[in-house]
Amino acid sequence: MNRAKIISIGHYTPKKILTNTDLEKMVDTNDEWITQRTGIKERHIARIDEMPSDMGYEAAKEALEKANINPEDIDIILCGTVSGDYITPATACLIQAKLGAKNAFAFDISAACSGFIYGLSIAEKFILADNTKTVLVVATEKISNITNWEDRATCVLFGDGAGAAILKSSNDNSGIVASYLKTDGDLYDYIMLPGGGSKNPASLETVKNKQHYLTMKGNEVFKYAVTKMIESVEKVLVHSNWTKDDVNMIFPHQANIRIIDSIRKKINFDKDRVFININKYGNTSAATIPIAVSEALQSNKIKAGDKIVLVSFGSGFTWGALSLIW
Ligand code: COA
Repeated sequence: MNRAKIISIGHYTPKKILTNTDLEKMVDTNDEWITQRTGIKERHIARIDEMPSDMGYEAAKEALEKANINPEDIDIILCGTVSGDYITPATACLIQAKLGAKNAFAFDISAACSGFIYGLSIAEKFILADNTKTVLVVATEKISNITNWEDRATCVLFGDGAGAAILKSSNDNSGIVASYLKTDGDLYDYIMLPGGGSKNPASLETVKNKQHYLTMKGNEVFKYAVTKMIESVEKVLVHSNWTKDDVNMIFPHQANIRIIDSIRKKINFDKDRVFININKYGNTSAATIPIAVSEALQSNKIKAGDKIVLVSFGSGFTWGALSLIW
């Protein structure tokens, strides 16, 4: 059976680390609160001159090197981001230029934290339609630029980073098995960046009112994230004809350790089959899952033939899950 398969994956995180202790000097918070309520100990913050396209380029370069593929061989570049270099052009276009992937067409996916899973699913459709295609899916975020560093309820949660995957057709049973993608636009204002778009174009007023930063109804988001990520795992298992016992490793979006623990307990998964690295990076939005998968491969936590599930939730609301045989 032909499937779309991730043949390599890379990631990049900026050098600068911002610890909870550093944050104690910036807002009224403390390491104990952040650790207990979120599981985050530190996050990486991009340099002022380091853009999402630069981080995405680094992650993509690593994935290309691992797969031994030339940039000219890429047909399609998809980039999940909500913090791109510009509103237009797409960050995917900038990554195309930086890589010299001159035969590719490129566009961004605005699905917030679900951007990587949505991107993999779109890539799969291109590959199933034409099994000669090579697709690069990047997720890159500089959330530090859209964070209100005076708001303790949000600034402790996020970080910067990027991940990138290369997909090709496979006929050895490995690859994407099933996906389940959902959106509820009625809840668009639960996590949003109110200023800078057509609704509230940039003005002195929008700057004064801090409308160029992420706002969030944290408690409501928490409840929805738990419910919808559980729903996604259950649905994708049914679509894959798998039981939870078939799954070797699940990669949940890294937004809050308590969200991950609630899901794990509800679906009754052992701790060692749920990948967690939120302590080191915080929530890097679309980039959390590719960074996690890349790290899991580096530390031999997944191997060929393993059954894995990726599951996400984000602004929109967008959510979903993907099952793969590695
Ligand atoms: N440090 C110390 N205290 C803080 C704080 C911080 N960084 N942020 C909030 N608080 C305070 C609140 O002001 C509140 O104080 P009060 O009781 O005196 O009013 C108290 O802590 C509890 O706040 P609450 O918002 O109820 O905390 P919580 O346990 O719900 O945790 C979040 C807040 C944001 C960590 C949690 O709601 C969350 O993770 N939500 C989901 C966010 C998310 O994942 N978003 C992205 C999805 S992709």
